[in-house]
Amino acid sequence: MIKTIYFQDDSVMLLDQSQLPDRLVYEKCNDPAQVADAIIGLKVRGAPLIGVTAAFGLALGIKNYRGPTEQVDQYFQATCKLLASTRPTAVNLFWALERMEKTYMIHRHQELESIAQILMAEADKMYAEDIAINRAIGDYGQELVPAGGRVLTICNAGALATCGYGTALGVIRSAAARGKIDKVWACETRPVLQGARLTVWELMREGIPVGLITDSMAGYTMQLGKIDLVIVGADRIAANGDAANKIGTFSLAVLAAYHNIPFYVAAPLSTIDLSIDNGGQIPIEERHQDEVRQIAGTYLTVPDVEVFNPAFDVTPQHLIKGIITEKGIIEPPYISGLEHIKTKTQG
Ligand code: MRU
Repeated sequence: MIKTIYFQDDSVMLLDQSQLPDRLVYEKCNDPAQVADAIIGLKVRGAPLIGVTAAFGLALGIKNYRGPTEQVDQYFQATCKLLASTRPTAVNLFWALERMEKTYMIHRHQELESIAQILMAEADKMYAEDIAINRAIGDYGQELVPAGGRVLTICNAGALATCGYGTALGVIRSAAARGKIDKVWACETRPVLQGARLTVWELMREGIPVGLITDSMAGYTMQLGKIDLVIVGADRIAANGDAANKIGTFSLAVLAAYHNIPFYVAAPLSTIDLSIDNGGQIPIEERHQDEVRQIAGTYLTVPDVEVFNPAFDVTPQHLIKGIITEKGIIEPPYISGLEHIKTKTQG
């Protein structure tokens, strides 16, 4: 399986997803600022991977820290702040930084070199855990896929968006391994085209049958009876089950409800944010207007037209048939189910 991130000597190597599918290249990051820029620039993206990448960035910062010993705490906090400021919607980012901070606080009185080792080990552990979590999501979720299943998805919630295997694509992978996938329909996912560039690439590499549609073709494709279920990832799920995911997800959920097609969200428990009651409280990132005005650096409209470019939308919980996690599938009412699974099953 493709490696999305790894440590090499004094650097972090990131698979640069902005260049896929044309080029498979890794970017070498020597400091946390470079890691932060890679997250902002969508070189690494996808909620779980953003979190683990920030953890790698933090460990890298401490490993390469050469300033006065009495200022390490200050440097650690400033680096956390820098990484936390990169993207606001995926809660996995803040979850991962908090976990690193807890680890740091326990060991901060040790030699700098051993703190760095411990932080790197913690980041590596998160990486390995994420793959195991995705496999568990896949195993639970595949039961929802009928034989000959035709699944619609949006964005990329695959190996590229995680440390491997994927959430929504993890379910698809597990179903495909059991011979249950007839077709995956990937929405291209305007404006950054994660569906067309990443999901299609990822699935075709593994021989999982995939077709590409533009986002506006989803309704007609459903109307033709070509879709049995919709499975998407999530960036943040509120306590009531409202789920933020890539822009366009909400429209798919409405269309699925209209056509009586089950709509599922696949996500790890780290994506569930019990501190907020509903999706209205999820911060939605707005990105640069040129993402909409241009494709691959070429303007497709009048260059100074006003643009609205929210990167995510929120699907209300009543449109979601189930939330597939590593601990099982949660069905409505989410308000009790999410809290139970998050507080009773996690250490
Ligand atoms: O802007 P992106 O590419 O980071 O958005 C990614 C998504 O919306 C994914 O569906 C979500 O993070 C889940 S990834 C397992």
